[in-house]
This record gives sequence, C-alpha cells and structure tokens, in this order.
Amino acid sequence: MKITEGLLGEHALSYALFDQVEAAADDAGNLTEIFAVGRVLSRAVASHMALEHEVLFPALIEGGQTNGALDVMRADHKEIELLAGAVADSTTLEEGRGVLLRLVATLREHFEKEERFLFPICERMLSDQKLTELGADWAKRRGLA
Ligand SMILES: [Fe+2]
Repeated sequence: MKITEGLLGEHALSYALFDQVEAAADDAGNLTEIFAVGRVLSRAVASHMALEHEVLFPALIEGGQTNGALDVMRADHKEIELLAGAVADSTTLEEGRGVLLRLVATLREHFEKEERFLFPICERMLSDQKLTELGADWAKRRGLA
C-alpha cells in the first residue's frame, strides 16, 4: 500500500471521529467532559501528524520539495497543536466548547488541504516504489505489519 493511501484511510476514520467530537462538544455538561474529548482527539491527530513529519516530509524534502507546501502544512500543524493546548487550558465550559469546535473545524480544513494539494504532490514527486516503501513504514508504525 502507498503511504498516501494509508494516510487517506486515516482521514476517513478521522472524519467519523470529528463528527463524534462535535456531537460530544454540543452535549457536554461540564468542562471535564470537554477536556476528556479534547485529549482523545489531540492524541489521535498528534500521531497522524507525527507520521507525516517523520516519514512523509523527509521523503518529500529528499525528493526536492522545497517550496511552500510543506511550510503551509507545518504552519497548520502548529496551529492545531496550539488549539489543542487551548482546549486543555480553557477555564469555562463555553470557552472549552468553542475552542474544541474550532479545533475540529481547523482539522477538517487541514485534512482537505492535504487531500487536494499535499497527497497529489507526493504522487507526482515520488515513485510508486518509494510511496510503497513509505507505506510499509507507515503500516509498521501503526502496528499493521
Ligand atoms: Fe497534516
């Protein structure tokens, strides 16, 4: 499997998770519930972003990708990390709910950007063999191989 296919599969599952997080944020009766949901979401997306940083981005840089696409992705990841931290630092239910929903919206936009721009760049720049090698690394890290 190519790494782009593996990451796209993670996006598909993440969209289902985002729906559940939004519903949980709406239903939350106190800030503790917001913190619990925020932690699950933050850890799930942190592992996804780490895979991109440690497996995908180095291959793109090695392949000659030096323009703005990676900078945009890194800036998005930073914003996502800051929002995840802001959820944990919230002091009222309304604040926590608002920041958590903003985090989910930001994640949806970021994932869409990856699907429209980053993954096609990977498919253009990297050979099928390289994408499959990276896919094997991805699978191993995810406990699939
Ligand atoms: Fe990303």
